[in-house]
Amino acid sequence: MKNDFLSLTDITSTDLMELFELADELKMNTHARPLEGKSIALIFQKPSLRTRASFEVGVYQLGGHSVVLLQESIGIGTREKASDVARVLSRYASMIVARVFDHAVLTEMSEHASVPVINALSDMGHPCQLLADLYTMRQHNRLWPGVKVVYVGDGNNMAHSWLEAATLYPLHLVIATPEGYEPDARFVELATESGLSTVEIVRDPVAAAQDADVIYTDVWASMGQESEAAERRRAFADYQVDFRLLNVAQPNCVVMHCLPAHRGEEISAEVIEGGHSIVFDQAENRLHVQKALMTRLFDRWTAMRAAAASEEQYALSLFGRC
Ligand code: CP
Ligand code: NVA
Repeated sequence: MKNDFLSLTDITSTDLMELFELADELKMNTHARPLEGKSIALIFQKPSLRTRASFEVGVYQLGGHSVVLLQESIGIGTREKASDVARVLSRYASMIVARVFDHAVLTEMSEHASVPVINALSDMGHPCQLLADLYTMRQHNRLWPGVKVVYVGDGNNMAHSWLEAATLYPLHLVIATPEGYEPDARFVELATESGLSTVEIVRDPVAAAQDADVIYTDVWASMGQESEAAERRRAFADYQVDFRLLNVAQPNCVVMHCLPAHRGEEISAEVIEGGHSIVFDQAENRLHVQKALMTRLFDRWTAMRAAAASEEQYALSLFGRC
């Protein structure tokens, strides 16, 4: 596991399973306080309900304190460079969690921060959501090698994170998306070249949903694409997750959505409210997996700092002997 979590490629399959086990433990043991006396900076350049609430509550439950910083007040890229924000916050906080428009802001912060940086959603991915999604599939006994996951809709940040997930866990991942809205080819290549999963990018959502174990969807217009909403409604009109898809899926297929949802657009009201839907378990699990992630990153960072300090001490002792 790298000391940042900017994408799922920062962890290994073993890390993934260990995070799930730690999330299970933290769910049971509410007395763990690994962040006692520590402050965590939470940066939001975009709106959020789940991410902000689950990180704030999670930090509190781990004994720490969060400092929420909104783009309107800190002005990354307008008032101040991302690199300066990262260096300043590293002097106060033990971790930086950031939701940004442009993934390059996260990589710049990661290069300049001396504390771990977590991606809380960017244009390139939403890895914390995917951790919670895989954990939720495991909770519902839907995580087995070759499980058929059908992602229906926009080839956006969520689709990218699914493609990264396919490099960590063996999936049969089918992405059904209209022409012109496919995921970035680099993510498709990454998933295909890893050789771990079977990956298909297809057009027909009903054919894709055949025998699906999991059907997943996300909004048609992501945050920042509001001006394209009408055009996207037309482009995605055939891509609603509704009973046409559930009728051809496995009878016990689960339906997942990262939320927020637009009933009547990417998902029908009947399906999101129906017995196949596990969307609120996904939302809850953001809390548990992020607590595990923060605990693990903080432990590693503390161990790295201790190792660096003892090396420095050793070098000084050698110098003293000269
Ligand atoms: N799923 C998710 O990240 O929700 P928010 O945008 O409300 O944080
Ligand atoms: N693709 C969506 C995900 C929201 C959690 C967005 O970026 O707005």
